[in-house]
Amino acid sequence: MSKPETAKKPMPRHIAFIMDGNGRWAERRGLSRLVGHDQGYRALWKIANTCLDLGIPHFTFYAFSKENWRRPKDEVDGLMALFEKYLDENLNPKKLADARRRGLSFRVIGNFLDLPSHLRAKVRKLLAATRENRGHILNVAFSYGGRAEIVAAARKIARDAGRGKLQPGDLTEETFSRYLYTGGQPDPDLLIRTGGEFRVSNFLLYQIAYAEIYVTDTLWPDFKPKELKQALREYQHRERRFGMTSAQVKSTLRPPRKD
Ligand code: IPE
Ligand code: IPE
Ligand code: MG
Repeated sequence: MSKPETAKKPMPRHIAFIMDGNGRWAERRGLSRLVGHDQGYRALWKIANTCLDLGIPHFTFYAFSKENWRRPKDEVDGLMALFEKYLDENLNPKKLADARRRGLSFRVIGNFLDLPSHLRAKVRKLLAATRENRGHILNVAFSYGGRAEIVAAARKIARDAGRGKLQPGDLTEETFSRYLYTGGQPDPDLLIRTGGEFRVSNFLLYQIAYAEIYVTDTLWPDFKPKELKQALREYQHRERRFGMTSAQVKSTLRPPRKD
């Protein structure tokens, strides 16, 4: 797979995707929204494979939000059936061997207990089967809410403080982030939203503090590796200042003077 022209410039260590637009993609074709979700899964795999080829270590896909439970029952039931189908696909020995060969480990972030129990068992199996794989982590955000994640972290912190395992004064941004579902993983450098909406829809609220945001009108099933590479090129041309001035950023990028 060819690398983007700017392969020498920094690549993101973590890309987060808000895969929006499956429903519209289907409706525009007079198809059921579930056909759009099925196509969306195919797009996810193409993009995940591109991330693997490009050597991106962490990628996170927003598959189902905490708020998505409010959708019509038919759509929710259909989505659960699709998730089961995808889980079975990934539990196939050939797929597991492929994940091992490519160093791909799966994580699920979100409220695990919201999952129907038969899906929970399959998720556990997939996580256990890929746990030892090193190189890439694919996070699937399921029944995920950013605020709920922060509250859950605060609850765990309060519990640890109550047990004397943590002194309130020792709590730092670093320690706090270890209590999040993504604990131990770098924050996303790049957040991509398809489907054209300019909002974050309760996604990774803590982690995206300094993520570069790329919004495209392309609907998720139409989001191709070519457009991912386009987003990466745009990312590489952004100046990430982290509160500093442009001059400061440029001077830290310049090699130190020899005199
Ligand atoms: C995103 O696509 C996938 C899920 C939320 C499960 P949508 O289903 O939100 O698609 P649109 O926004 O209605 O087109
Ligand atoms: C965000 O899409 C959630 C996922 C992509 C899973 P939504 O379609 O649910 O977002 P809103 O409701 O338009 O903000
Ligand atoms: Mg949507």
